[in-house]
Amino acid sequence: MRKSFKQDYKVLLKKELSPNTFYFRVHAPFIAKKIEAGQFIIVRPGSHSERMPLSICGWNREEGYLEIIIMAAGVTSTEATQKNVGDCFEDIVGPLGQRSHVAKYDGACVVIGGGYGTGAVIPTARDLKDRGNKVYGVVGARNKDLLLMIDELNQVCDEVIITTNDGSLGISGMVTDGLNFIVNREKVSMILAVGPVPMMKAITEIGVAKEIETWVSLNAIMVDGTGMCGACRVTIAGKTRFACFHGPDFKGADVNFDELMKRQKMFVVKEKVAFDMLKSVQAN
Ligand SMILES: Cc1cc2nc3c(=O)[nH]c(=O)nc-3n(C[C@H](O)[C@H](O)[C@H](O)COP(=O)(O)OP(=O)(O)OC[C@H]3O[C@@H](n4cnc5c(N)ncnc54)[C@H](O)[C@@H]3O)c2cc1C
Ligand code: FES
Repeated sequence: MRKSFKQDYKVLLKKELSPNTFYFRVHAPFIAKKIEAGQFIIVRPGSHSERMPLSICGWNREEGYLEIIIMAAGVTSTEATQKNVGDCFEDIVGPLGQRSHVAKYDGACVVIGGGYGTGAVIPTARDLKDRGNKVYGVVGARNKDLLLMIDELNQVCDEVIITTNDGSLGISGMVTDGLNFIVNREKVSMILAVGPVPMMKAITEIGVAKEIETWVSLNAIMVDGTGMCGACRVTIAGKTRFACFHGPDFKGADVNFDELMKRQKMFVVKEKVAFDMLKSVQAN
């Protein structure tokens, strides 16, 4: 008789990067062996939890671990950030989605991260560098205390441009100002942006105006992550695509961002009720 086999997804290391945002190193040897830049995983913190898609900011194939960044946004992400070293996630599915597009370009490549996206662009930046490209990183936050993973991004880029809304570090402004700083200085052939949808939309507008190949990683609401349920459907160049299976990376010029933003807000009321319940349970 075949024995069932269950892996443990133990937290090996945890670091607070900024308020509500944590780095985790998690034991997951089978996924670590196969995952490629741009792919993602789905995590359930506990047996009762919802499924939460997460990008990967690194991995170690020999030691069998994944590196993830989790920003506490609601119930499931808060449950996940409350795990500590030695605790286990209930299960992790992956690798999911397609790997990021990489090639050797004439001009420079710019990877742009907002929030957890700063970690998500690191593996693709490394792949672009390995292909002989000049790679810039652009990272933005409201203020310098909210910036994440700058040292790690510096290791895989030729230069990292920092922007802060309040001017506390780097260029005063947004990541779009960081991108404009580079495109006004030299030829850029490729952009990858990962972060909030309005940010990816604004980056795409610059990319389209300057005729630069621009990729974005779509964080549509997902359930199964394998193309079966249809929850993550997005409109790409007028056609329905599943962000989890055909993406998550798509050419920004093809994305219907307004529809994506509308679909992301579908469960806002229920999400707030669930989050308020969690907070009141934990307070008592
Ligand atoms: C491909 C992909 C990669 C992602 N990578 C990361 C990452 O590396 N780190 C990180 O902190 N977050 C990441 N996210 C977002 C993360 O999945 C959501 O923040 C999380 O699912 C929110 O769940 P919640 O119960 O905590 O919050 P909720 O209160 O349920 O939702 C908060 C917000 O998150 C969005 N959301 C809710 N459920 C989902 C879902 N199942 N799929 C996608 N978005 C959802 C909603 O639009 C909502 O506005 C990623 C999402 C996708 C699709
Ligand atoms: S999450 Fe179900 S089809 Fe993409």
